[in-house]
Amino acid sequence: MADIDVEYTLSQLELSEKIGLIAGIDFWHTFAVKRLNIPSLRLSDGPNGTRGTRFFDGVPAACFPCGTGLGSTFNKELLQKAGQLMGVEAKHKGAHVILGPTTNMQRGPLGGRGFESFSEDPYLAGIASAAIINGIQDEDIAATIKHFVCNDLENERQSSDVIVTQRALREIYLEPFRLAIKYSNPACFMTAYNKVNGTHVSNNSKILKDILRDEWKFEGLVMSDWFGVYTSEKAIQSGLDLEMPGPTIFRSVEIIKHMIESRELHIDDLDDRVRNVLNLVKWCAKSGVPENGEEDTDNDTKETSALLRQIAAESVVLLKNEDNVLPLKKDDKIAVIGPNAKYPAYSGGGSASLRPYYTTTPFESISKKLSTTPEYTVGAYAFKSMPSLATQLTNFSTGKTGYNMKFYKHPRDYKGDRENIDELNINTSFIFLVDYKNDKLDSNLYYIDIEGDFVPESSGEYEFGLTVQGTALLYVNDQLVVDNKTKQEKGEAFFNMGSTEITNKINLKGGEKYRVRVEFGSAPTFTASNGENVDFGGGGGLFFGCAKVIDDDEEIANAVKLAKSVDKVVLAIGLNQEWESEGYDRKDMDLPLRTNDLVEAVLKANPNTVIVNQSGTPVEMPWLSKAKGLLQAWYGGNEGGNGIADVLFGDHNPSGKLSLTFPFKNIDNPAYLNFKTERGRVLYGEDIFIGYRYYDKLQKKVAFPFGYGLSYTNFEYSDLKINVDEAKDKLTASLSVKNVGKVDGAEVVQLYISHKGGKTILPVKELKGFEKVSIKAGKSVTVSFDLCLKDTCSWFDEYFDKWILETGDYEVQIGKSSDDIELIAPFEIKNQKLWKGI
Ligand code: BGC
Repeated sequence: MADIDVEYTLSQLELSEKIGLIAGIDFWHTFAVKRLNIPSLRLSDGPNGTRGTRFFDGVPAACFPCGTGLGSTFNKELLQKAGQLMGVEAKHKGAHVILGPTTNMQRGPLGGRGFESFSEDPYLAGIASAAIINGIQDEDIAATIKHFVCNDLENERQSSDVIVTQRALREIYLEPFRLAIKYSNPACFMTAYNKVNGTHVSNNSKILKDILRDEWKFEGLVMSDWFGVYTSEKAIQSGLDLEMPGPTIFRSVEIIKHMIESRELHIDDLDDRVRNVLNLVKWCAKSGVPENGEEDTDNDTKETSALLRQIAAESVVLLKNEDNVLPLKKDDKIAVIGPNAKYPAYSGGGSASLRPYYTTTPFESISKKLSTTPEYTVGAYAFKSMPSLATQLTNFSTGKTGYNMKFYKHPRDYKGDRENIDELNINTSFIFLVDYKNDKLDSNLYYIDIEGDFVPESSGEYEFGLTVQGTALLYVNDQLVVDNKTKQEKGEAFFNMGSTEITNKINLKGGEKYRVRVEFGSAPTFTASNGENVDFGGGGGLFFGCAKVIDDDEEIANAVKLAKSVDKVVLAIGLNQEWESEGYDRKDMDLPLRTNDLVEAVLKANPNTVIVNQSGTPVEMPWLSKAKGLLQAWYGGNEGGNGIADVLFGDHNPSGKLSLTFPFKNIDNPAYLNFKTERGRVLYGEDIFIGYRYYDKLQKKVAFPFGYGLSYTNFEYSDLKINVDEAKDKLTASLSVKNVGKVDGAEVVQLYISHKGGKTILPVKELKGFEKVSIKAGKSVTVSFDLCLKDTCSWFDEYFDKWILETGDYEVQIGKSSDDIELIAPFEIKNQKLWKGI
């Protein structure tokens, strides 16, 4: 890709070319003008990997732990390395721009995309975002921070009007974006779907121009979220540079030309948008990524796995370790039980998900640490819809796991010649066809036949399920078993565009081969209403699954029997990418189905049980007081299983700290009364008191506080010294940290500021610095902080419409968590300062 002279190129563009440049041409590419050397750029999701150009049948990629897991590493250097690896991955997917990181806020535990964002704390979220962006951009790949701003729930996300005070908007929701600009300068911003105080963000010149451009001096590109543009001239005037995806809905040459000619839209506004697109094209040229490059898996190397494993292990948070039940010993007699033991919970769902190079499960990874394979039983099911059937099928044409898939223009009962227009061999059951391309198709209406062989392990009843955005029938040996065609109901699948799951049971004989056939009709055949959702267009989707029907009580009894027969149990539980996904929020904070009954029973049978919970956001744990050992393991990416096993066996001394508070119950959380779009709007009634700011202020007990996490060693803090220099706008602090245990470890030292009084209601304390240090057993290190005083101590004063650094008494509080302050040093601010900007 050639470098371009932006102003010269702009002067040479014809009007229709300028208009072409401000919208995408398809799901993942921008418009090219060959005669002026302007290439088409490729954009690829983010945020926990770089997926490439296909949701369906994608080229495998590296999968990183989810955002809350990355945030829990509290490790800036490691996050920057993670960003670099994302950048390298982008090159292997021919992408110039990564659509990540995601940095919205977890107002409560139920946000469907809560797992994608780093933290409930704006400082941690901002610093983590900056580290990831710096890493991505070290590789000359453009990062896109998203979703700007207040896309903090999924419910009616396109139309939801966020009613938020200016103070909360500034201190909580805009702050991570401001910090990301200050410490990293992302090349792109993506606007949120929702409105903020009455105006959609993509039409919001107060946010996009006054704050982002004028106050923060952002010079990069602003793109829409996918189908998140709602107007033609207004979005252009408000500063939305690029409409995505293409083909355009609001920026056709006819419409924009008409606007310009009728003087509804000034040519300067159009030129400003085009200039920002050209600047991005120029920015991306240095990456050397060719236009429309091939996608490959060449980065699936030992080095990639090693870094992903380190990140996965560092994200794990050790929450309980009574009687030193951990680390496990390699000669302990261990059983591995639970619905997540053999399930690869590598990622949450939605646009963050991708096809991983490979996955690891707790069971496999624990087995590798032991000389004999541990015994296993599932104990309880935890799936939301039937588990993937693809991995249980054999493709009769290849002999491999999976099935054969044939595409047609016409349905099976078509009387003419039914031309087969594509044939694929696939091994995943999640078929999302938004970006499926086929030159032989002239519409989104087409039909697919899927066939594979199923050999049940044992005789009994099997339950098959079909979820679609389209229509589907599932046959076993030509017998119709599931019909999701005749009577369809709108459900949540496929980003909330699909049907409910329809299931049916059938008796099968163990060892016998059955031919499974699914007849699918694409999105236009769907008969249930789409409702108030983002409509991604395209061919729709299909998910098909199957599980042997179990007797829940019998299964728990099996688990109890096994638990009693061993020294220690690892009980792997949690959620998965169907419970936590884009397009809908969780309905409650519960663990699925009979999980809690299983945990209670296993804990009773064997108190030396270590529970491993995999979820992107908190779950209720009614059995918590009875559990001796507990790990929070998030969605850990390709290396999730290995990261867990490394911590369990002490090959990695845990150092993760919770990036968000775990309340006991959903009802305890600050957004409990306001976590839904009601009559078109969602009230941010908790104001600035989200996360620990709320629990602290109300002195409410929580299951685990923000910043909490144990190690296999202990640390002692001493000698806190601070210095405040108002003239230089600096606050420095240093202290000594000693590893007083027997093993090497790493500690996250957290610096909070407490403002003692003032003109307004304030949080008890707020995180304003953190450092992670590795310390050998018995050794001490000095930990230093060098902070910007105004960022560290100000609050946003709506009366002045400025940040205010107030005079008065403050404290630096150094803690091991937000609930465990070890050292305090008071200081005073003598000169008031009002400020705006970076
Ligand atoms: C999501 C974005 C994503 C885009 C493209 C949208 O639905 O909100 O985060 O980048 O789709 O997949």
